[in-house]
Amino acid sequence: MSETSLDDIVSLAKRRGFIYQGSEIYGGLAGTWDYGPLGVQLKRNIMQLWWKLFVDDREDMYGIDAAILMNQKVWQASGHTETFTDPLVECSNCHSRFRADKIDTSKCPTCGKTGTFGEARQFNMMFKTHVGPVADEGSISYLRPETAQGIFTNYKNVVDSFYPDLPFGLAQQGKAFRNEISPRDFIFRAREFEQMEIEYFVNPENWEQAFDMWVEQIHKWCDMLGLPQDKVHELEVPENDRAHYSKRTVDFEYDFPIGREELLGLAYRTDFDLGNIQRVSGKNMEYRPKDGSTPFVPHVIEPSFGVERALMAVLTAAYTEDEMSGEKRVYLKLPKHLAPVKVAVSPLLKNKPELVNKAREVYQTLKKEFGQVVWDDNGNIGKRYRRQDEIGTPYCVTIDFQTLEDNTVTVRDRDTAQQERVAIAELAQKVA
Ligand code: GAP
Repeated sequence: MSETSLDDIVSLAKRRGFIYQGSEIYGGLAGTWDYGPLGVQLKRNIMQLWWKLFVDDREDMYGIDAAILMNQKVWQASGHTETFTDPLVECSNCHSRFRADKIDTSKCPTCGKTGTFGEARQFNMMFKTHVGPVADEGSISYLRPETAQGIFTNYKNVVDSFYPDLPFGLAQQGKAFRNEISPRDFIFRAREFEQMEIEYFVNPENWEQAFDMWVEQIHKWCDMLGLPQDKVHELEVPENDRAHYSKRTVDFEYDFPIGREELLGLAYRTDFDLGNIQRVSGKNMEYRPKDGSTPFVPHVIEPSFGVERALMAVLTAAYTEDEMSGEKRVYLKLPKHLAPVKVAVSPLLKNKPELVNKAREVYQTLKKEFGQVVWDDNGNIGKRYRRQDEIGTPYCVTIDFQTLEDNTVTVRDRDTAQQERVAIAELAQKVA
């Protein structure tokens, strides 16, 4: 089978109600995307899996949820007002704008003229806004470009409330905004997106051990997303390409349809952020070891995950074409725990009340148990299967005349298309 293209993914996502262009009805707004019923469920499943793996299942993690709008001093102290920039070039002929490090600047990709780009200027990617009715310098704030700062600014609060043992981590999920010069490649580079970040506080003597632990955890995460291991790559980021706060960064890249690109990042942020907060706020950020030894400002290991990139990798890995009964079939081979619909329930015929009533009973029971269960009685059974395959539903349950006699149903498996008869009493266990 041929390689999956980005167009395959985009068109399935739109057709089947996963992801739409933002503000599409008014011609769109570049770099924004809206999630339909299946997209929002898939996204939530990914985010809940992350929270379970990295917060609920661990003893050393605490969740937080900070405000998106923060005091502008946060971004001054963190260095974002000064250095969160990308190099911008503009074509003097057609006035198209590009990120200088993403194109060959000898020739304009839009109009094809050569020598039309001047010197790049640094463009700050934070969205500026005003808080309150007075538009003066004092009321300026920014839509956060990373969730991380909401964690750093709450580090002291959590230590004061919980006094956790070191090492410990704070985790947060939420929106981030970047005024990207050229948003592109579907949800890969957007202006509004979602992050899932962990700041893991360590004794500086142990940072390498913690870094290695997170490398391992990230691979586990990729496995749980159903990403083939040979498509996930570690890239040791050289010093001159690292963010201003990082002493070591490993980017985890994935073989997307657009090529090998960053899926998520792991950085050693040292005491850069807590040190800056201490300097600018005047508040002490030191941790007092429980054994009475000298207090110190902890160092930080930061695994930073983008939700949209995880989702795009999941869709890429799951997108499968095969042939069934001489016809091409497209289906999403999603891991069961991520599928937006867990089970579809159908009566064999929708004009036979006895079948419909029995099917409704089964549907209600499964719905109560799993939530993400749909009723599908449109078209013939073959069409229903195809439709459910395309959105990655692992199981289709059909109620037929035999059901009325022996309380068994047909369960059809998405990947093998095999059907088996299962007793209704054992159905929940079968599809769990
Ligand atoms: N706190 C560290 C930080 O924000 P980053 O490498 O700039 O680091 C982390 O971003 C992750 O956020 C990226 O690996 C990517 O998954 C996601 N991300 C960043 N910019 C994005 C964008 N414009 N659109 C979608 N996802 C983005």
